[in-house]
Amino acid sequence: MNYHVTVNGVEATQPPRPGQCLRTYLRERGCFGVKKGCDTGDCGACTVHVDGVPVHSCLYPAVRADGAAVTTVEGLAATVPGDGLHPVQQRFLDAQGFQCGFCTAGFVMTTAALDEEQLTDLPRSFKGNLCRCTGYRAIEDAVRGERHVERPAAGRGVGANLPAPAGPDVVTGAARYTFDVDVPDVLHLKLVRSPHAHARVVDIDATEALRVPGVHAVLTHADAPERLYSTARHEHSEEDPFDTRLLDDVVRHVGQRVAAVVADTEAAAEEGCRRVRVCYDVLPAVTDAAAALRPDAPRVHEHGNVADEVHGEVGDVERGLAEADAVYENTFHTARVQHAALETHGAVGWLDHEGRLIVRTSSQTPFLTRRALCEVFDLPQDAVRVLTGRVGGGFGGKQEMLVEDVVALAVLRLRRPVRLEFTRSEQFTGATTRHPFTITVRAGARRDGTLTALAVEAVSNTGAYGNHAGGVLHHSLSESISLYRCPNKKADGYAVYTNTVPAGAFRGYGLGQVSHAVESALDELARRLDLDPLALREQNVIRAGEEMVEPGGHAADLHIGSYGLQACIDVVKAARAQPTPPAPPGWLTGEGCALSMIATGPPGGHIADATATLVADGTVELAVGTAEFGNGTTTVHRQLAADALGTTPERITVRQSDTDLVGHDTGAFASAGSVVAGAAVLRAAQALAGDLVKRAAAHLDADPAACTLTPDAVVVNGHRLPLPELHTAEGDVVGHGFHSGTPRSVAFNVQWFRIAVDPDTGELVILRSVHAADAGRVLNPMQCRGQVEGGVVQALGAATSEEVVVDAAGEVTTTAFRTYHIPTFADAPRTEVHFVDTHDTIGPLGAKSMSESPFNPVAPALANALRDATGVRFTDLPLRRDRIWRRLTLGPSDPA
Ligand code: FES
Repeated sequence: MNYHVTVNGVEATQPPRPGQCLRTYLRERGCFGVKKGCDTGDCGACTVHVDGVPVHSCLYPAVRADGAAVTTVEGLAATVPGDGLHPVQQRFLDAQGFQCGFCTAGFVMTTAALDEEQLTDLPRSFKGNLCRCTGYRAIEDAVRGERHVERPAAGRGVGANLPAPAGPDVVTGAARYTFDVDVPDVLHLKLVRSPHAHARVVDIDATEALRVPGVHAVLTHADAPERLYSTARHEHSEEDPFDTRLLDDVVRHVGQRVAAVVADTEAAAEEGCRRVRVCYDVLPAVTDAAAALRPDAPRVHEHGNVADEVHGEVGDVERGLAEADAVYENTFHTARVQHAALETHGAVGWLDHEGRLIVRTSSQTPFLTRRALCEVFDLPQDAVRVLTGRVGGGFGGKQEMLVEDVVALAVLRLRRPVRLEFTRSEQFTGATTRHPFTITVRAGARRDGTLTALAVEAVSNTGAYGNHAGGVLHHSLSESISLYRCPNKKADGYAVYTNTVPAGAFRGYGLGQVSHAVESALDELARRLDLDPLALREQNVIRAGEEMVEPGGHAADLHIGSYGLQACIDVVKAARAQPTPPAPPGWLTGEGCALSMIATGPPGGHIADATATLVADGTVELAVGTAEFGNGTTTVHRQLAADALGTTPERITVRQSDTDLVGHDTGAFASAGSVVAGAAVLRAAQALAGDLVKRAAAHLDADPAACTLTPDAVVVNGHRLPLPELHTAEGDVVGHGFHSGTPRSVAFNVQWFRIAVDPDTGELVILRSVHAADAGRVLNPMQCRGQVEGGVVQALGAATSEEVVVDAAGEVTTTAFRTYHIPTFADAPRTEVHFVDTHDTIGPLGAKSMSESPFNPVAPALANALRDATGVRFTDLPLRRDRIWRRLTLGPSDPA
């Protein structure tokens, strides 16, 4: 076959394989900017131009490109005159229109092909591109040509809108994610997954699979270590039950891995999977958490169906309810939702020349993953190296070991490089979700609005395994309740095993679920007392200097390091007084708000160990373990270090997330990137600065107190000792910083919506969205605003459309973006983000965390606005249009 295609100006004549899509054809030619987000034409991460026309290359047969000129993001700049970037790439840099950046090449390519008319209708123009991180507003700003990034003065990095150092690589496709590297002779691993919710594996016959040309091995429970562990990653692994085996002879959910087929090609591995014959003894299953709590329920695990439980009370809730002038009680349900990071789970592993196991993975926890691999395979720590490239989104979903273990098994068995990359479908059936909760709230208050009782009963569905079950349950019942002063509080909670896809860590770690119930209940309580719901909250919230009291006991290391909650409430009060865009005629309108508080780090311990090193050219190298997945920690770490060293961030390089090259870090989760790893970085930089001054003073025969550190020298009394000369004299000078993650502070968030609802269709439109946040001293307002905007839109997805549907047999039926609806550009309102001015006494340079917390108040604020507009309390998420219409049309008897 004669085949000829021009890729970024370079001719290619190798014909594609039968059925090969253009995406894989291009990636095999090194165009790694062409990303895989779905393989079904839904996400647009693979967008390229074919003869100038944007196409989803995952759906475009490579054979159809015969004779065409194909441009990928790597070749875009060459299509315009000059040596610089394409104007669209420059705009994405100027506005920082990205976070993890996995979607960015797709957006850049789509934008570059838009004509003037299409640019005026971005919701329509971007209907084929999804972003999970940004909330789309930074992307819109980029397209509109707004500039947000700044260049700061030396030593003045903190507080400036410094750009992400990876920006130029992200917008040109040069950033290297997990699979954007060539690994020679790599084998492909695919998984045989269980069709049953609960079954014993009686027999696995791999004979036919092994006959498939190119198949090297079929691995089963007979090949897997007996050792049990948890896929959850925490600094203290005993926080999670050891209930998972790498490949088990009992399957507990549809989609659980049963066997691994390793082959020369993905196609051969998939064919091998189809030919593996598994004989199951099907067991009784339970998919509903309430049903699983019944004494006669099928047992998901031998030790029972309760993975963890919480019980606590302060005061006397029954007495508090009796003393109340109004009591409100109701039961709320939150849905199972998925992280939907654009980069799916995946890892590639190999043995190096010394026989060490190397795993390159899309993980938020490389150090804890190395520890787990060592435990599972009984290897010494120095025999394993885990590293990440740039990570394409996480949101807590990659605080798990879901792929690295089976890749390691295959590498160790076959002594060959092996890769496993989840499909988007596997991401829904074989990765984790948010815990669905059922929450009953009882709240009582006196006529003047003073709370007298607050009781919460929560049941979370942890699915087939207990990863994060206890942590999420405990956390869900902590700050959601301790936010309010009340003499009588009670919490009871159960995390329950069922035969469904496991739940895990997800932004907010349970607070979003229980806050939905508590904040909705307080809204109703205020209405019963004829009080303004915001005023009732304001009257009862915790105040500066007070102890937080939660039914599970007071966390001794948790303090209010700065208090901006009242200021956040005042922002919303001011917003309410302002005019709002009008609703369409005949639509119902209403407003609602909700509050949330979150600890700036996990209670179980979080460790970061950083170094700052003066290198030969006089610049500084930071080494810090935490991974970068768009949360902006790399930028913030450079800012903190630049401040301490009196230099500019450009003179600081960051080395990160590689267990061979940097010190231990618990991981990029629990909002710890700025306040834990950042604190360690700051201490390392301060130590280096002090040491440089001391050593320079000795060389200059000067008093250290008289010396000043400038970006490239130490100066005293008109004498200059350039840093490269100091390095020549002293060698690498290293500052060390450590942070244990304690004590912890709290951050506050308040969300307010004004909405309109069409009573004839159930359509809900957000007329105004205001979010006030107390993030302490804001280290990088542009990035922090992006975290809020992205968090609000991700939460709106969970509040209005997203639901991982599990049928009665336990099978996930929403396995693609077109059935699981994450917000598109058209769905995302522009949220007005306000940071209130506080300076935390605990966080580095006054900062607090702001990555998870924007999520938590969004759903209840929307539900409260819907109640205000319609008079109906919707207790269950998501607040889908059909659900709203049915309830408004058919009344409370409607089962929906
Ligand atoms: Fe868009 Fe992460 S920046 S998916």
